[in-house]
Amino acid sequence: MDTGTTVLLLLMLFVGTVSSGSPIFYGNSISFMPLKKNEDGTIGVSFTHRQNGWSSCSYESTLECGNGLCTDYNKLSILQTDKDESEDKKWCQTEGLTTATVSTNDTYFTLSGSDCCWLSNSEKVKRWRSEAQLNLGTRSDTLSLNNCPVTTTVANLRVPQNCFSRIQLLAQDPDRDDVKCSFSPDATIPSNFAIDKETCTLTSTGQVDTGNHVIEIMLEDFPTNNITLTYRNGTSVLRKTSDENLAPLCRVKLQFLVEILSSVPSCELGNVQPMFLSKTPSHGDVLHASVGQPFELHAEAKAQNSRIVDFQISGPQNISKEFQTGGQGTAEVTITWTPQSHHAYAFVPFCFTAETDEFQSEMRCVTVLVTRASIVQGEAKVECLPNIMKVILDKASMPGIDERFLKLRDPSCSLSSNGTHIMGTMSLSTCGTTLEDLGDKIAFKNEINSFVLPDEIITRRKVVKIDFSCQFPKSLSISNYFSIHSTDYIFTESGFGSFSYNFEIFKDNKFQDKVNSSAYPVEVRLLDTVYMGIKAQSEISNVRIFVESCKATPDKNPENVLSYDLIKNGCIKDETLKIYQSEDVVFNFEVQAFKFTGNYDKVYITCSVIMCENTSPYSRCAQGCLDEPIKRRRRRDTSRETDRHYIAQGPFVIVKIPGSIEALNDTMFLKMDNVQPVNPKSFATDMESGQGNWNVQQILWNQITTIMFASAFIVLLVLIAVGFCYISKRGIREDRKALILGLEN
Ligand SMILES: *[C@@H]1O[C@H](CO)[C@@H](O)[C@H](O)[C@H]1NC(C)=O
Ligand SMILES: *[C@@H]1O[C@H](CO)[C@@H](O)[C@H](O)[C@H]1NC(C)=O
Ligand SMILES: *[C@@H]1O[C@H](CO)[C@@H](O)[C@H](O)[C@H]1NC(C)=O
Ligand SMILES: *[C@@H]1O[C@H](CO)[C@@H](O)[C@H](O)[C@H]1NC(C)=O
Ligand SMILES: *[C@@H]1O[C@H](CO)[C@@H](O)[C@H](O)[C@H]1NC(C)=O
Ligand SMILES: *[C@@H]1O[C@H](CO)[C@@H](O)[C@H](O)[C@H]1NC(C)=O
Ligand SMILES: *[C@@H]1O[C@H](CO)[C@@H](O)[C@H](O)[C@H]1NC(C)=O
Repeated sequence: MDTGTTVLLLLMLFVGTVSSGSPIFYGNSISFMPLKKNEDGTIGVSFTHRQNGWSSCSYESTLECGNGLCTDYNKLSILQTDKDESEDKKWCQTEGLTTATVSTNDTYFTLSGSDCCWLSNSEKVKRWRSEAQLNLGTRSDTLSLNNCPVTTTVANLRVPQNCFSRIQLLAQDPDRDDVKCSFSPDATIPSNFAIDKETCTLTSTGQVDTGNHVIEIMLEDFPTNNITLTYRNGTSVLRKTSDENLAPLCRVKLQFLVEILSSVPSCELGNVQPMFLSKTPSHGDVLHASVGQPFELHAEAKAQNSRIVDFQISGPQNISKEFQTGGQGTAEVTITWTPQSHHAYAFVPFCFTAETDEFQSEMRCVTVLVTRASIVQGEAKVECLPNIMKVILDKASMPGIDERFLKLRDPSCSLSSNGTHIMGTMSLSTCGTTLEDLGDKIAFKNEINSFVLPDEIITRRKVVKIDFSCQFPKSLSISNYFSIHSTDYIFTESGFGSFSYNFEIFKDNKFQDKVNSSAYPVEVRLLDTVYMGIKAQSEISNVRIFVESCKATPDKNPENVLSYDLIKNGCIKDETLKIYQSEDVVFNFEVQAFKFTGNYDKVYITCSVIMCENTSPYSRCAQGCLDEPIKRRRRRDTSRETDRHYIAQGPFVIVKIPGSIEALNDTMFLKMDNVQPVNPKSFATDMESGQGNWNVQQILWNQITTIMFASAFIVLLVLIAVGFCYISKRGIREDRKALILGLEN
């Protein structure tokens, strides 16, 4: 098609559009600001409606308030937020802001709209229908009306046929409810498309056809706790999570088109399809902004064999977009936005893609929580050392923060403190640290969360969430990290400070000569004796360790049903296992090498270890072997002991002696690879790849101080992300209305 024809066609389309009043529809999304209870019992509703279309988006369809329950229905403004800058003018998005007053004694309120004219599509769907249904009860957990899940998409989503495997959608709930996604009941589901209910990810179940496909998703939120809803006429309804037939508190529909392009030779990200780089926030991140203050969102992408020409944005009105290209096929965008007062306490969705003339990156989406209060700065520091991640919070900058109610992602890890700071130290493999691929970097991420005691009914403490990370360039070999033995497993617990365990293989029963990490893999003949030792190092003296269990599994999953107990409940279970007398903080043992019967060539050993104060007569360490497993609830005050921590060694790989068939029957070898992290899920990606000569010290000993925002009110939510060369720091001061996480009275 030459340009003239295109223009003509577009012109016709445009004219047709205007004359019929119904623009070509590419999809839409609805986002609600927090509902307001007015004194007269009515409810103030304001919502934004993002509608996607072709060429010109000056028009937007009107949504109607169900049953004529709305008064003061006001479409305040409609503005185009983003458009295709190329000649094709293939897509655009508008956002309209509407306010209304809802006056009803009903439990629900609905908003709906429909019109003709989906863009021509494989499903031959013509009419679209938009819908949102909101429960109007006051929640007993937040003392406010429910908030709907927040979602949106960019106007134009396209992916080559052979590269389509999944599209992650945004499904964020401001009340932290469970959000479930499903195809809308009235939708025509394109063949070979599926939706993952929990993660809200569109997936393929086979090859999808080329062309445009209509996707209509319903998002529904379900509180995770039993709550009561109180309605305007005074009646209350108890909602138990155990009741399977509960209706969602809100349902809101998301509609969009996915254009499946013809196949390409390579689906490798960063080749012709742009790949996001580490400057870009992760999908699902919650960022922070305050009313009247400019907020900036940065994204960076790279495509080596094509040219990034733009970023497509789904965002609120009056965003500005600054696009810049860099070297080596990179490009970045800065989106600037100044939230207005009607955005206060709303979660505002943003989605973006990097665009080449033909292709598109994955879609990333984040939400921006807007607060009204000016921000108080707090201070936090993350140090990234070889295999160690250390987070330090300055207490003075976060008044009222209490480390006794803080835990890391793995709740068996807590934090310690001195007079001025709260500290947590962990290794890259402990305390729930996860690995995330950021494109050009990898990040080890963890978070600090506050928790409530199980029997506590009312929480007056601040709610804290602090994300932190250590980021490393991907080109460098991370495996170097895990061979640094002396710091293999590090934990922090309040009352115990930081402590570490290392788990070694020794050459003989003197337990002096470690099997050198440079000499790995170590070969041991089957039935030979293997000498292993666990040693603890602790900031506090007068402690002892207790190995409660050790079990062998054929893979990294310590929960594997195929397992063999060496020690259980503190009792020796394997007759070849022998424990050597040693210092209180050392546990040395020997065991005969074995393998699992069947087609398993690996053995991993995972032990659970507890550290106790030596003087504590009722500690688990003092109890020793017990017949029955005890359900230990931690009683920090009576018996001073740490939580149970898991440390692992392995794998031992059984190998045949090369060239020897006979070797199969009794001379199998145990080959030991480098120490692997305990948490198998955390390290799913290929960590051994990339052999770089990497000066660990040089890169990681730099300490980075960042500014963190903290709260002076009831509710606090803090976020940090820190890396070796990239620091992003966000935080927030929040007042009680903002996040309905704490209770007020
Ligand atoms: C709702 O109920 C209240 C009290 O029962 C009543 O005064 C009011 O008129 C009702 N409002 C509507 C819109 O029905
Ligand atoms: C209050 O409203 C709910 C929902 O409309 C209704 O089921 C209930 O009967 C009403 N109760 C009273 C006391 O009016
Ligand atoms: C909700 O209530 C049910 C029944 O009372 C109870 O079994 C369940 O544990 C409760 N759930 C939560 C999350 O509190
Ligand atoms: C947004 O932009 C429009 C037009 O460019 C302008 O009229 C309006 O005042 C702006 N709104 C805000 C809140 O800046
Ligand atoms: C507390 O620990 C931090 C971090 O290690 C240190 O900088 C600070 O000086 C310590 N404060 C006191 C009072 O010991
Ligand atoms: C272990 O390796 C280091 C460095 O390669 C070497 O200096 C040391 O002597 C080795 N130790 C043993 C016991 O082989
Ligand atoms: C097993 O080992 C014995 C003794 O080393 C040898 O005689 C026999 O051939 C071996 N069997 C196999 C199947 O290799």
